[in-house]
Amino acid sequence: MLACVRSAALWGIDALPVTVEVDVNVGLPQTTIVGLPDASVQESRERIKAAIQNAGFVFPMRRIIINLAPGDLKKGGPSFDLPIALGVLAASGQLETRYLADFLFTGELSLDGSLRSVSGAMCLALGASQMGLAGIIVPRANGPEAALVEGIATRALASLAEVVKFLQNPERIAPLPGNTSALIARSEGPDLAEVRGQPLARRALEVAASGGHNLLLLGPPGSGKTMLARRLPGILPALSLDEALESTRIYSVAGLLPRDNLIRARPFRAPHHSVSAAALVGGGSYPKPGEVSLSHNGVLFLDEATEFRREVLESLRQPLEEGEVLIARARQALTFPARFAVVLAANPCPCGFYGDPFVVCRCSTLQRTRYWSRLSGPLLDRIDLQIFVGRPKPEEIIRSITGEDSATVQQRVNAARSIQKQRFTTSPRVRCNAQMDSAGLREFCRLDSAGLTLLEGAVRALHLSARSADRILKVARTLADLADSSEIQTLHIAEALQFRTLERMQPVGAING
Ligand SMILES: Nc1ncnc2c1ncn2[C@@H]1O[C@H](COP(=O)(O)OP(=O)(O)OP(=O)(O)O)[C@@H](O)[C@H]1O
Ligand SMILES: [Mg+2]
Repeated sequence: MLACVRSAALWGIDALPVTVEVDVNVGLPQTTIVGLPDASVQESRERIKAAIQNAGFVFPMRRIIINLAPGDLKKGGPSFDLPIALGVLAASGQLETRYLADFLFTGELSLDGSLRSVSGAMCLALGASQMGLAGIIVPRANGPEAALVEGIATRALASLAEVVKFLQNPERIAPLPGNTSALIARSEGPDLAEVRGQPLARRALEVAASGGHNLLLLGPPGSGKTMLARRLPGILPALSLDEALESTRIYSVAGLLPRDNLIRARPFRAPHHSVSAAALVGGGSYPKPGEVSLSHNGVLFLDEATEFRREVLESLRQPLEEGEVLIARARQALTFPARFAVVLAANPCPCGFYGDPFVVCRCSTLQRTRYWSRLSGPLLDRIDLQIFVGRPKPEEIIRSITGEDSATVQQRVNAARSIQKQRFTTSPRVRCNAQMDSAGLREFCRLDSAGLTLLEGAVRALHLSARSADRILKVARTLADLADSSEIQTLHIAEALQFRTLERMQPVGAING
């Protein structure tokens, strides 16, 4: 007898339909799985046999052929355990099949027949809804995550026996309620009030959070670069519902959802400098999102940026420009979203004191040039805000002059973001000033003649590239938004130029000499 059960395989953050066909027929007892299963799917044969028996059913001592269709899609992972087991039960007459075709099934089986969670349940639920199915059956632990998807009834069940019982009368178990309310939370983390002094760096953090700009913090050891960057999550604007669902999908595929199954605040990722390029941008034979995609809608912080391997830093260029990562595979390419702001922190030279007004730098010009070359030109060209973080003044350190707290700054950030939300309602891919394309620049960043003269002079004096000039305009737009000004004024251009430290601070010559 033949049975078909619906399931799906993850492809990036999408779910592709997979039909599990099971044929139980006379012949020597033998179970074969075909349809490009990998070793992990092959292993499920033994698990399913034990699970079926321990759940109180009979594993047929016949010839069983299991086909995962379509045959040209590689399938991996244990999420096909449940649909295969249901197929075996259906094909051997132990399951009510009337409602079987209405649902998508996913779940890993334990030997005792209970269901273990799978990764990507939210993406599978979205897939089920796109396939027009009535519902999805997921392991109990995946319930809250799958229930985030609207337009599909989610049932979260604990074991194979429960699924079999459910199929006798699906009405008996009500679907989980959608739980997208109270989704958004404020990021947690250290507070900006603890930072003494550093007005320029505080301003840069606020601008970065407001417009989604990339930021470079350059400065001597102990000046507070790491401290400042770690306080960025606390002032980032709240996630919108769409953004929260988007990020949750990515974390769901990566198997990194927090215990409550939701990404509620903007991600802040800080990988160690030993990270590989593959871990940063994503990949693998079943492609998983990398750090850049985990930072989607949030911030990727690279502390001690010069310690990262050069090819790792270079690999950031494409996602920074495109807002997504393209992973090419023999059969098909896939993309992961990766719209993030990058924050880099580094010392300005090997000894750390180049540019410090009080301590003399001991490095030679050659050493400094080599050191700077680690942060490649094309990468720095993509950084909108570059500032020098000097050591706080003695009176600031000792007399403890603290600044505003994160909640106050975040209110201004939120106000600037809501202006941007209005501005970009017609272009769904752009959410903040930093993501504007050239058409957006022409439309929203017009300058008066004084502004044009100032920018032109700066481009000439600092030998700026066209890309850098565009980036200055975007920062000026954010500064105008923070001041609730519809026009970009000369003072906004002037302040945006203040955030271009690198062009003024070249490794040759001794600033502090
Ligand atoms: N502006 C500041 N206000 C309050 N504390 C500060 C400030 N700057 C530095 N500190 C103190 O100094 C410590 C070291 O700062 P931090 O680790 O951020 O320096 P850094 O610039 O990242 O140095 P490195 O270049 O060595 O990584 C902080 O944990 C904090 O206690
Ligand atoms: Mg540091």
